[in-house]
Amino acid sequence: MDRIRIVGGAKLNGTIPISGAKNAALPLMIAGLLSEETLILDNVPRLADVAQLQRILGNHGVDIMSAGKRPGAREYQGQTLHISAADIIDTTAPYELVSRMRASFWVIAPLLARMHEARVSLPGGCAIGTRPVDLLIMALEKLGAEITIDGGYVIAKAPGGLKGATIEFPKVTVSGTHVAVMAATLARGTTVITNAACEPEILDVADCLNKMGARILGAGTPRIVVEGVVKLNGARHTVLPDRIETGTYAMAVTMTGGDVQLAGARPELLQSALDVLTQAGAVVAVNNEGIRVTRNGAGIRPVKVSTAPFPGFPTDLQAQLMALMACAGGASRITETIFENRFMHVQELARFGARISLDGETATIDGIARLRGAPVMATDLRASVSLVIAGLAAEGETMVNRVYHLDRGFERLEEKLSACGASIERISD
Ligand code: UD1
Repeated sequence: MDRIRIVGGAKLNGTIPISGAKNAALPLMIAGLLSEETLILDNVPRLADVAQLQRILGNHGVDIMSAGKRPGAREYQGQTLHISAADIIDTTAPYELVSRMRASFWVIAPLLARMHEARVSLPGGCAIGTRPVDLLIMALEKLGAEITIDGGYVIAKAPGGLKGATIEFPKVTVSGTHVAVMAATLARGTTVITNAACEPEILDVADCLNKMGARILGAGTPRIVVEGVVKLNGARHTVLPDRIETGTYAMAVTMTGGDVQLAGARPELLQSALDVLTQAGAVVAVNNEGIRVTRNGAGIRPVKVSTAPFPGFPTDLQAQLMALMACAGGASRITETIFENRFMHVQELARFGARISLDGETATIDGIARLRGAPVMATDLRASVSLVIAGLAAEGETMVNRVYHLDRGFERLEEKLSACGASIERISD
C-alpha cells in the first residue's frame, strides 16, 4: 500500500488550485439517478470515492462518460461527467460496493423515488463513530416507504410512489437532509423538512435539482420545502469548490508559515474556519482569485473551538486544527460535538511529540515549539491529512503509512504541496 514521505520544515509558498467538493460531487452524481435524461457535472474531483461511486451507479445501469479536457480548460480543472440513467436495470446496491463508502447508501432515495423500490446494503465509510442511518430511514418512512432490514440490507418499497410529508429531524444531519430532499423531488405533493442541514453542499445539490426541474425552496436554511414533480430532466451543473480542502491547505500554511494563494476557493463556504485561523495568527485575505493565507514571523496563537453544523466550525477540519494547535504558544481546547470517537488522530499526533489530553469530547492541546517527524498511520480521511500537515511542519522525516484514505478525499495532494515548496513524495510498494 502506498506511503507518503515528507521532510518537514519548508515554508509553503505559491498557488494551490482548489478542486470541486467531494461532499457535493457524490450526492450530485447520485441525483443523476432521478432522471432518464443526462446530467452533466463539471469540476468533479478525481478521487477514489468518485471512482467507487461510478462503479456503484454502473451496477444500477447508469452510463457514465468522463469527458477529456476541453480547449481553454484550466490546467487543474476537474473532470466532466455525463451521467445517463435512462434505464435502471437493478435496484440493489450490494454490500461489496456500498460497504466501502458511506455516501453510496444515499442511492436509496432516488431509487425509491423513481423505481418505487430499493435494496441497499447498510453502509461503511470512515471509522468515526457509529454513524447510523436511522434518521434517513425515518425520513423515507415519513414519505410513505415501507422499510425492512434483512441480512444487512435495507429494503425499501413504495408501491404507489412516495407522498409528500413533514419531516422534522431531531438532530441536524447532512445525509438525512440529502436523502429527504432527493426523495421528495418525485413525491406526490409537498414536503416540508425542518431542522435541515444548512451545509453549502445541500444548497449546491438543490440548485442542481432545480435545474433538473425540481421545485425546492429554502435549501441552505433549516426549513426546506419541496413541491414534488412527476419527472426530472437533464441539466448541466458545476460542482462548488471544496471548503474542506481549502481549510486544510489554509491550516497547512498557517502551520509551516509562508504565503499561499488558494485559487478558486470561496471564503463564504468556510468563514468560521477562516476566523479561527485569523485568531491563530494567520493573515487571511480575500481576492478575485480566491483566498490568500499568510503567516510570516508571528507565532501560532492557541484557540478554543467547538465543531458545529454549518455555519459553525466543521468537524471535517477538526483533526487538521488539532495538528496546527500542537505548535501553538499555549494551551488550546477543541470540542467535537458532531461525531463521537473522532479523535483517532490524537495518538498518531502524539508520535510527533504533540501533547494532547482527552476528556470526553474535549481535547486539550499544550502547544510545543517544534514537532519531530515520525512514522505514523492514517486512520480516516481527515485524520490522515492532519498527519500530513503535522509532517510538513515537523523537523525531519515523516512517513505516513496506509494513505488510501487520503486518495478518497484529496486530489493530487503531493503534487499540490510540492508545487509550493514542500518536500513530499509518494512511495508505491
Ligand atoms: C457528512 C459528510 C462528512 C461530515 C458530516 C458532518 C458527506 C459525504 N459526508 O457526513 O464529511 O463530517 O456530514 O458535517 O457529505 N446521525 C444519526 N442518524 C442518522 C444519520 C446521522 O444519528 O441516520 C448522526 C451521525 O452519527 C452524526 C450526526 O448525525 O453524529 C451527523 O451526521 P451527518 O450530518 O448525517 O453526517 P454524514 O452525512 O454521514
